[in-house]
Amino acid sequence: MAHSEGRPEGVAVITGAASGMGEASARLMGQAGWPLLLCDLDGGRLATTAERLRGGGAVETLAGDIAGAAFPGSLAAALADRPVGALIHCAALSPTMANPDRILEVNLAATMRLVDAVRPRMAAGSAAVLFASIAGHQMGAALDEPISKASTPDAVASLTAYASNSGLAYSISKRGVHLLVRREALGFGRRGARIISLSPGIIDTPMGQAELKAHAVMQTMVDGSALPRLARAEEVAAVAAFLCSPAASFITGTDILVDGGTIGVMLSGAGGK
Ligand SMILES: NC(=O)c1ccc[n+]([C@@H]2O[C@H](COP(=O)([O-])OP(=O)(O)OC[C@H]3O[C@@H](n4cnc5c(N)ncnc54)[C@H](O)[C@@H]3O)[C@@H](O)[C@H]2O)c1
Repeated sequence: MAHSEGRPEGVAVITGAASGMGEASARLMGQAGWPLLLCDLDGGRLATTAERLRGGGAVETLAGDIAGAAFPGSLAAALADRPVGALIHCAALSPTMANPDRILEVNLAATMRLVDAVRPRMAAGSAAVLFASIAGHQMGAALDEPISKASTPDAVASLTAYASNSGLAYSISKRGVHLLVRREALGFGRRGARIISLSPGIIDTPMGQAELKAHAVMQTMVDGSALPRLARAEEVAAVAAFLCSPAASFITGTDILVDGGTIGVMLSGAGGK
């Protein structure tokens, strides 16, 4: 049943809500009138974010590791009998933050478990938006077969064989999110729900800044893009909020690039001209 403002029923669950694009998404979804359940590993920053947003409406928090065995149960307990009207899943680790195993576990295995946990609770008209990355586009389809085969959380560890460094693990994990969304679209659709991945370019957040500092090639990518600048977190969060709204009612099972044209320029072969 639709809410009086046209929103689906239920809570908006936002992971990675203590920083960057998760925090910006929480702000925009709060402004759109959604009751919020904000999740993050960093309990201190999460509490600060929630406090800032509370003036606008109902805000609950769930601090914890999304890759922890207890997380799906804690999420279910926090939701109680309420449906999920929107999921914006931002929590992840970038290449400078962890080793390949942990990156695959947090970015892909935990994402699968999260999707399993919310799927039966998705309200009619609801949407799940999973943050992926341009890294998943850059790697192309070369490893799609093994990535598709690793379609359960326990099977994700098998991808370590292809991830000789954290950068590769990150790209594989994000390609895995693109493929997960394609696989899940039918099941979500049967519930009248949608699932989409969103691939940001290089964004001005703590993660984006850390990667820029560590890898000179990223500045080259920014400079060669159609819009040669970093985006603000809000420019991406606005797309996530749109994807959760009734205005996006026919978008599902696909990836949405929000990258200032980085991948388009790359694929056109026009970079550097
Ligand atoms: N910033 C970029 O340039 C960029 C580019 C492409 C894709 N992305 C993707 O966008 C999403 C958001 O990135 P951001 O730049 O806002 O990141 P960020 O580092 O600013 O914020 C990520 C948040 O996730 C939380 N988190 C990390 N691991 C967690 C875990 N195991 N359990 C619970 N919470 C955890 C962190 O505490 C942090 O608050 C990520 O999925 C990232 O991979 C970012």
